[in-house]
Amino acid sequence: MFSSFSTIFSAFLMAASAIVSAAPVQPVELLVFSPTLTSPKAGDIWTCGQKYNVTWETDNIPEEKQNATGLILLGYLYNNSENLDIHHPLGANFLLTDGYYEVTAPQNATPRVDYTVVLFGDSGNASPEFAIMPSSL
Ligand SMILES: *[C@@H]1O[C@H](CO)[C@@H](O)[C@H](O)[C@H]1NC(C)=O
Ligand SMILES: *[C@@H]1O[C@H](CO)[C@@H](O)[C@H](O)[C@H]1NC(C)=O
Ligand SMILES: *[C@@H]1O[C@H](CO)[C@@H](O)[C@H](O)[C@H]1NC(C)=O
Repeated sequence: MFSSFSTIFSAFLMAASAIVSAAPVQPVELLVFSPTLTSPKAGDIWTCGQKYNVTWETDNIPEEKQNATGLILLGYLYNNSENLDIHHPLGANFLLTDGYYEVTAPQNATPRVDYTVVLFGDSGNASPEFAIMPSSL
């Protein structure tokens, strides 16, 4: 009785230690929330002056970030940099829990095919490259 119990118990301990050693250490950084963008998508084409929704996933927003506000900046991928236009945010002070924010493609945007938008929660998340073209094209 005792020996079979101890065998089971030690088997349990071995299984438990295997689970513990396999489980990833939960990093503190998990509390830093950076929302995953779902739009714009790679290859999208925006027209200057038109409105577009920047959208992101909200199902992973932690409880303590329910009132957190976001910031959306436009940049372009050039010279190994995002070249973010910090002086003209596309959006600010919206709730991250909204999951979208309607932005206007800048009227005077230089036509490029390597634009990106970066959504900042605690840290930034960049969209894939998309284009902004003049309305006359
Ligand atoms: C953005 O999404 C909202 C909510 O779904 C919708 O009311 C609005 O028309 C959308 N704007 C654009 C430009 O698609
Ligand atoms: C969010 O704001 C509401 C209303 O101001 C408040 O009741 C709630 O405690 C806040 N939640 C967090 C996580 O800060
Ligand atoms: C590209 O980046 C390098 C290093 O930051 C800088 O010295 C150079 O002037 C940049 N070139 C252009 C065209 O912006």
